[in-house]
Amino acid sequence: MKSITVGITGASGSIYAQRLLVYLNESPDVSRVDLVISQAGVRVVSEELGLNVAGTEARVVRELIGEVSDKVIVHSPGDIGATIASGSYLSDAMIIVPCSMGSLAAIAGGVTRDLVHRAADVMLKENRLLILVPRETPFNAIQLENMLKLARLGVRIIPAMPSFYHHPKTIDDLIEHFTHRLLDHLSVAHEQKTRWDGSRKSGRAGERESG
Ligand SMILES: Cc1cc2nc3c(=O)[nH]c(=O)nc-3n(C[C@H](O)[C@H](O)[C@H](O)COP(=O)(O)O)c2cc1C
Repeated sequence: MKSITVGITGASGSIYAQRLLVYLNESPDVSRVDLVISQAGVRVVSEELGLNVAGTEARVVRELIGEVSDKVIVHSPGDIGATIASGSYLSDAMIIVPCSMGSLAAIAGGVTRDLVHRAADVMLKENRLLILVPRETPFNAIQLENMLKLARLGVRIIPAMPSFYHHPKTIDDLIEHFTHRLLDHLSVAHEQKTRWDGSRKSGRAGERESG
C-alpha cells in the first residue's frame, strides 16, 4: 500500500491532476494521498475546471474527485508545519502535476517558497521518488537547464505532452492515456486499454518509436 503526495501548481493542465486523484482514490494499491495546491494552482483550477479548491476541507476533495474521501488529506500551501514538510513522515512518492516553471525553478534552486516546494525538497533529500509534470511552451534555456539539473538528481521529468499512437478520438482519450502513464511511473496498477503492443495494422508499426 502506497502513500503518495500530490502537488498541484499554477501551470495549465489541472485536469491531469484531477483525473490522477480519481485513480489514486480508487486504487487498492494506495492507502493515503496527501494533497497540496499552490495559490496559483487554486487560480488555474478555477480558470480551467471551474472549481473552487481554496482551503483544506473535505469540500476541496469533493470538488476535485466528486466524493468525500478519508484517503485524501488536503494541506494548505502555507502550512510549512504539515506532515509532508518532514522527512520523518513516510511518503513513497511525490508528483507535482501540473508543475509550473516557477515551482520547477524553486525546486531546482532549493528554494522553498511554499509547502509544495518544501515537500519536493524533502523527497530529494530523502532520495525518494519525485515526479514533475511540467507544462510550458516554448521552453527557455533556464527552464531546460532546471529540468536537466533535476533529471540528473533522479527526478522524473514527464512533460504534459499528449501522444497520438493510440489513436485518440476525444480530449478525454488524451487525458486518460497521459494519466495512465503517470500511474505507471507511480507503480500504481490500472486498466490501461491503450498500451502499445507493437501490432497495429501496418507490419512495420511495431518498429515505430512509442512512449
Ligand atoms: C490560466 C493560467 C495558466 C497558466 N499556465 C502556465 C503554464 O502552463 N506553465 C507555467 O509555468 N505557468 C503558467 N501560469 C503562470 C503560473 O501560474 C505562475 O507563474 C505562478 O506564479 C506559478 O506559481 P506556483 O508555481 O507557486 O503555482 C499560468 C497562469 C494562469 C493564470
